[in-house]
Amino acid sequence: MTRILAISGSLRRRSYNRALLQAASEHAPEGVEIEIYDELEALAPYNEDRENDRPESVEALMARIQEADALLLATPEFNTTLPGQLKHMIDWGSRPYGPDAALYGKPVAVIGASTTDYGAMWAQDTLRKALGIAGARVVDAELTVARAQNKFDEDGRLHDEETLEQLAHVIHSVARHHLELAGV
Ligand SMILES: Cc1cc2nc3c(=O)[nH]c(=O)nc-3n(C[C@H](O)[C@H](O)[C@H](O)COP(=O)(O)O)c2cc1C
Repeated sequence: MTRILAISGSLRRRSYNRALLQAASEHAPEGVEIEIYDELEALAPYNEDRENDRPESVEALMARIQEADALLLATPEFNTTLPGQLKHMIDWGSRPYGPDAALYGKPVAVIGASTTDYGAMWAQDTLRKALGIAGARVVDAELTVARAQNKFDEDGRLHDEETLEQLAHVIHSVARHHLELAGV
């Protein structure tokens, strides 16, 4: 079983990015389990002084990342970049720099949804760049969900077939990456 931890950079209750992860978890293929992490709002902001005395919220999230085989991150785009809480997660996860960092060597897929024509593509690019510097293995599979308001129903269910297919491809790619690393 490949265990993927899915995290939305949007904290709002009816977030399209959160809904995208819900669709991913409901459509996970056999042999893949996608669990959604919903505590990002409580994550303490990054503070280098606390690196050797990390707040409980940080310890908890870093442990979850370390236990997961791979990550699926869905980011909104705020003012052309990624939201602050997701950036705090990357900063904590990148330290101590090197193999002991929670993100180091971790297969990660980045996806994103926005209500504009661009599907959070700049936020996704920035997130991929930061993850790469942190030592994560960012998979070469993309999903930009543009005009998200047209692709989800009132209950937040993804009904767009093309997006569902692309989502399946992303999940397959990140799970495959983990299995290759594990030598399976
Ligand atoms: C503060 C703020 C800034 C935003 N900036 C952008 C932006 O730069 N690019 C974009 O495509 N959408 C932008 N949007 C619109 C978001 O794409 C939209 O609110 C989206 O639904 C957020 O994702 P969520 O549904 O997961 O919360 C912005 C929204 C907010 C609230």
